[in-house]
Amino acid sequence: MASSSTAVLFLLLATAGIASAALSWERQFLDPHNKARKAVNVPNLSWDRNLAKYAQNWANKQARNNCQLKTSNGPYGENMYWSSRSSTPLAAVNAFVKEKQNYNHASNNCKANTRNSCRIYTQVVWKKTTKLGCASSRCPTGGTITVCSYNPPGNFAGQRPY
Ligand SMILES: *[C@@H]1O[C@H](CO)[C@@H](O)[C@H](O)[C@H]1NC(C)=O
Repeated sequence: MASSSTAVLFLLLATAGIASAALSWERQFLDPHNKARKAVNVPNLSWDRNLAKYAQNWANKQARNNCQLKTSNGPYGENMYWSSRSSTPLAAVNAFVKEKQNYNHASNNCKANTRNSCRIYTQVVWKKTTKLGCASSRCPTGGTITVCSYNPPGNFAGQRPY
C-alpha cells in the first residue's frame, strides 16, 4: 500500500515538471506568429478564447470529413494545416510563415510560379488583425488538422498587409 501511493506521487510530480517546462498551448501558436510579425514591424497578436473555440469546432468538423482543408467561410480570417502524422502548433505556424518566400511586398503580389500561395503568410502578418485563436484535431487516419482563426480578418483585395 505504502509503495503504491509513493508511485502515484512520483507520477504527479513528473507531470507537473513537464507542464511547467513546456510552453502553453496558446504560446506555442502565438510566439511564432508574433516572431513573424516582429520581423516586419507589425504589432503582436493576442489570444482570443472565442476564436480558439471557433477554430476547434471547425477542426473537429473537418476531422470527421476526411480532414479536408476546406475553409469554413466564416467571419474570420482562417489558415489551415494538415499533417499525415501527429503534429505540433509550431509545425503548423512554420508552414504558414514559409510562404513568406512567395510574397513580393513591393508589388503586394505572390511571386510568379508560386500558384498564388502567399496569402496564408499575409494573413499571419496582417497589421489590422489583432486576435488569434487556433486548435488541432486528430484525423481518423492518424493525421492532424490545425485551424487558426484571425480577427479582424485580413487579405482584403487591394489592401496591403503592412
Ligand atoms: C510580443 O510577443 C512575443 C511572443 O509572443 C513576446 O515575447 C513579446 O514580449 C511581446 N511583445 C509585446 C510588446 O507585448
